[in-house]
Amino acid sequence: MSKDKNIYDRYIKNFDIDLLKCKFLGKGNNGVVYLLPEGKIIKICYEVESCRKEYNILKRIHDNKYFPRVYGMMGNYMIRDYVDGVPLHKHIKTNGFTRRLAINIIELLEEFKKLKFTKQDVRCKDIMVKADESLMVIDPKKFYTKKRNFPSHLSKGLYKLGVLDDFMWILKEERPKLYEKWHKDIEKYIEDTFPSEF
Ligand SMILES: Nc1ncnc2c1ncn2[C@@H]1O[C@H](COP(=O)(O)OP(=O)(O)O)[C@@H](O)[C@H]1O
Ligand SMILES: [Mg+2]
Repeated sequence: MSKDKNIYDRYIKNFDIDLLKCKFLGKGNNGVVYLLPEGKIIKICYEVESCRKEYNILKRIHDNKYFPRVYGMMGNYMIRDYVDGVPLHKHIKTNGFTRRLAINIIELLEEFKKLKFTKQDVRCKDIMVKADESLMVIDPKKFYTKKRNFPSHLSKGLYKLGVLDDFMWILKEERPKLYEKWHKDIEKYIEDTFPSEF
């Protein structure tokens, strides 16, 4: 029996889950997340519809290295891989910003393009940084529905952390075409969002 089927049978078919024995990992606007045995998590959503939408996105990009593998859904919950990392904003506050990290972010955004996401954006808190500075996205919301052709929320997060200038500088050096494509929109977005600072 394949490992995936084992996980499916145990957690979806038989609902062999005792949440009282699971570690609470966090909650967001859409649901709560607990750690299960074997490095899997259960995300229980407040609404069936948001669970289905998120599950379908993870199914569609199945096995992409930037996203947790998903094992199944039932009603308002889904089972997916645990991501062992620190959210990007916390990582930057503790460890600072490095060129490697900036390049990893750029490569993640390039992957969004390859996956044909209509939303070329992600929030800092939804990017997990692992020990080797590689990245994963934990909360794949609206990537195929929302239209956004530049990384606005990401830029806003980096700006609040005081590292947006560094990021833009590295983007210009590493991917001049992407820089040309994005920088005016990003500058305008930041000026509009923080008017008192300009
Ligand atoms: N795959 C995961 N691995 C580790 N922690 C996770 C994972 N998914 C979610 N979490 C934790 O649970 C929190 C809420 O999950 P998230 O998917 O962002 O919910 P929401 O859609 O409600 O925003 C996250 O901020 C994070 O702390
Ligand atoms: Mg979230």
